[in-house]
Amino acid sequence: MTLKACVFDAYGTLFDVSAAAREAAREPDFPELAQNWQNLAAVWRDKQLQYTWLRAVTGAHCDFWQVTQDGLDYALAASGLEGNPALRARLLDLYFTLSAYPEVPTMLAELRAAGLQTAILSNGSAAMLEGAVSSAGLSGQFDALLSVDAVGIFKPAPEVYAMVEAALGLRPHEVLFVSSNGWDASCATSFGFETVWVNRLGAPVDRLPGKPKHQLSDLAPLPALLTQNTNA
Ligand code: LAC
Repeated sequence: MTLKACVFDAYGTLFDVSAAAREAAREPDFPELAQNWQNLAAVWRDKQLQYTWLRAVTGAHCDFWQVTQDGLDYALAASGLEGNPALRARLLDLYFTLSAYPEVPTMLAELRAAGLQTAILSNGSAAMLEGAVSSAGLSGQFDALLSVDAVGIFKPAPEVYAMVEAALGLRPHEVLFVSSNGWDASCATSFGFETVWVNRLGAPVDRLPGKPKHQLSDLAPLPALLTQNTNA
């Protein structure tokens, strides 16, 4: 089997979704975040994802920027931090320009030097993906930025994973799909991709029908994993 492309989930995989609350907590304007930015970030992410799944099963699709705001509004209310428009606006600004994890630029350069195609496949809207890629200094490092906007449903609907074949001209077994979301890696395995779960926190494997083929604790070893696989 020859893998020809590495396709990445965006949020939590390439871009650090905790960075927005962490960076705002360091700013002098938001001392109220000092104690609870981690909890805020976790609830924000949980609700954002839950809303994507609920919208997918009820046919109520919307832009991922909307569920990002809805998840934040829930998290702010749950933390007793609602009614602070400056804090809300700052967190959303930071989310639009999230940092990439530190190993990402080198890892992408190594994959591309090895002749692999690289792409993002994300719930994020086209505008969000372009904003994050550009602010992380990763412009020009991807052959395609694929947003669920094109199919009007969130992951893990199979229509989303099917976008890769059309965009890159590859069969699913030629694609290594990489996600830090266990459910995303599991469902991508069921779709037919070879998969890597980036398990930064040492979480247990999701109890879903598909199991990720590989696990890494960060993205740095990915080029070596791919080289071993393409030579196999
Ligand atoms: C994405 C979310 C699931 O980027 O992290 O699609």
